[in-house]
Amino acid sequence: MNDFEIIPMTPSHVDEVARLHQRCFPDYFLTHLGQTFLRRYYLEFCRHSTDYALVACCKTGDPVAGVVVGSADAQAHFRSLYRRNMLLFAPLVGWRVIVDSTIRRAIWQRMAHLRAAARSVIPGFRKPASAPLSDKGPKNQCPMRLLGIAVAPEYRGSGLAARLTECFETLLRQAGHPRVGLSVLPENQRAIAFYRKTGWQVTHASEAGSWFEKDL
Ligand SMILES: CC(C)(COP(=O)(O)OP(=O)(O)OC[C@H]1O[C@@H](n2cnc3c(N)ncnc32)[C@H](O)[C@@H]1OP(=O)(O)O)[C@@H](O)C(=O)NCCC(=O)NCCS
Repeated sequence: MNDFEIIPMTPSHVDEVARLHQRCFPDYFLTHLGQTFLRRYYLEFCRHSTDYALVACCKTGDPVAGVVVGSADAQAHFRSLYRRNMLLFAPLVGWRVIVDSTIRRAIWQRMAHLRAAARSVIPGFRKPASAPLSDKGPKNQCPMRLLGIAVAPEYRGSGLAARLTECFETLLRQAGHPRVGLSVLPENQRAIAFYRKTGWQVTHASEAGSWFEKDL
């Protein structure tokens, strides 16, 4: 594990991180939107002072082996992502809806994001900044969110994921955040086991998923 250094993600990591995402989340909605979408998605985490992103890089120069991203203002993060990329995303998502049945099936669960995308470009079509992007979770979630973590399959079970989250938590603590939350799909039992064993507490669970929080 000492062969890895955990460092802030920069735009130069984004291509590798998008490929890592594709390997780690093969069946997920964002993966089905393709590499162009994923690159823009991760690039956005390099732009905001309220976002945090770390990568685990092998000192021998192998590709990025792990990534963790989060935001203290997910609303602003996604508004900015959609506003900046609307001309690219609108036709891209429209095309994927036509050609990809996974996107067609899942797009309706993303209505909050579609509304946020519309709000980001239509003046006057705005909701209070505190409104959540998902209607499924509990009310009063802590604002600092861990939005994604992934470790390459060959490094799972090695302790790298725990190192990544420890560094992420240290970063948030140093930035003054008292608490961090996340959500996970119910079928992702490995991730749920990982969060439980690394000190996260369940705050809410339903058939839509589990919500965890942790004091920093
Ligand atoms: C989530 C992730 C970062 C965790 O890293 P990891 O290296 O796999 O985590 P660890 O192996 O340290 O911990 C997972 C635990 O779940 C256990 N586990 C493995 N498969 C399991 C399963 N199917 N059901 C329940 N527990 C499982 C492991 O044995 C381990 O527990 P142990 O250390 O007590 O043996 C990694 O699995 C990953 O990248 N997954 C794909 C992306 C993802 O789902 N991200 C999370 C989105 S919320």
